[in-house]
Amino acid sequence: MSDNKYHQERLERPAPPPGCPMHATWSPLNEDYLDEPYRIAAELRDAHPVFYAEELGYLVVTKMEDLERIFADHETFASVNVQDPVFPLAAEAQAVLAAPDFNPTAVMSNRPEPDHGKIRKYTRQGFSNSRIKTLEPFIRRRGNELIDQMLRSGSPIEIVDALAFPLPGETVFRFIGFPEADDEMLKHWCGDRKAFSWGKPTGQEQTEIAEQMLAYWRYCRDFTAAKQANRGDDFASELLTGHEENPDDMTYREVESIVYGLSFAGHEAVTALICNTLQCLLPRREVWAEIVADPSLIPNAIEEVLRWHSSQISWRRLTTVDTEIGGYDVPAGTQIFMNFASANRQSDIFDNPDEFDIHRPNAAHHISFGKGVHYCLGAKFAKMEAQLVTEMLAERIPSLRLVEDQDISYFPNITFRGPNTLQVAWD
Ligand code: HEM
Repeated sequence: MSDNKYHQERLERPAPPPGCPMHATWSPLNEDYLDEPYRIAAELRDAHPVFYAEELGYLVVTKMEDLERIFADHETFASVNVQDPVFPLAAEAQAVLAAPDFNPTAVMSNRPEPDHGKIRKYTRQGFSNSRIKTLEPFIRRRGNELIDQMLRSGSPIEIVDALAFPLPGETVFRFIGFPEADDEMLKHWCGDRKAFSWGKPTGQEQTEIAEQMLAYWRYCRDFTAAKQANRGDDFASELLTGHEENPDDMTYREVESIVYGLSFAGHEAVTALICNTLQCLLPRREVWAEIVADPSLIPNAIEEVLRWHSSQISWRRLTTVDTEIGGYDVPAGTQIFMNFASANRQSDIFDNPDEFDIHRPNAAHHISFGKGVHYCLGAKFAKMEAQLVTEMLAERIPSLRLVEDQDISYFPNITFRGPNTLQVAWD
């Protein structure tokens, strides 16, 4: 397999570090952890800041200082495994992805230096503050349309479907330059990538997702080819210009692959962030009243949501050489599970870490967007979307609340966290 393949299976596991504590049963896919990860994450961290999770085959690192060191040292701790399936793929799914034209290449989150830095130079321009700001009118217009539809349908409503899923998808599709007419098809193709790379889908599910990924990749290739002939004021056009100016820094295949990767990176975690924000704010009526009265509190409130109930609670790395973590000798080839859920609630960094406090002075010290060369390119983008949605809802539906006693479930996966459905009501 080529080193830069977008999704790779890494089935070999070196022996766990000698003397390292082992956990035979804990997995981020366990039902109790999916239900409420934070208490368990803290208990695991307090017992053993670094331990080996046998079920998962990963070394689990739980403390902020260790996570920061891992993020900073991208040569020892490569990000190459972040888009890989966690568990082996079924033969049928492998066969689908073996199609000769399924050839996206690792480009951003999963591409090592120095190539990553060359590519990021172009993508960073596309994510400049001024370009992101140009999306604000679209987010406001489309957000207001979806809220109008919610109000017309009447209280109560399921808000993932009504607002939190369609808006981030459509926003990133407009940013990339996809035509509006393709939105429904695109949302369908991208929806299950979370299961493929971070979940434990059945063989049948893997095959269905693989077929969608193949269809989506083919779409991205056709789209990029069409853009070449017909440029617009969009990110894909900018990437193509960047490629033409310096084809050695960013190849045409890499442009296609950025388009392929971004459509997942750009909306799934934002949908969750919007829902998690509502889950944090709406039940605390006095906090919601403060937000309604003073929207300038929203940016720090979103940082606190990213710390306390983040839409991404882990990320991965792979050791490239023998190294050391937490006093243990870690062999090259070890898969690392970086547990944000424990680090974001560390009491030596955050006072009363289990308390949700929109006025917390250091709320933004969370690790939810990573750190270092791969720091989330869309962090400002994501925060702006969540801020605008919160602002629009606070202004237009101040009586918004969560429907009481609803069953809230989370999609089984090792990284992304947001409710599958969220019922809201208003007066
Ligand atoms: C709440 C929402 C989001 C969260 C929690 C999140 C989190 C992350 C994390 C943890 C990383 C890996 C950082 C590292 O390895 O150091 C990452 C990378 C990335 N994110 Fe996000 N993200 C979010 C939204 C977005 C959005 C909206 C976009 C694009 C529109 C985006 C685009 C990217 C890209 C392109 C990378 C790879 C950057 C690189 O390797 O240079 N993300 N994100």
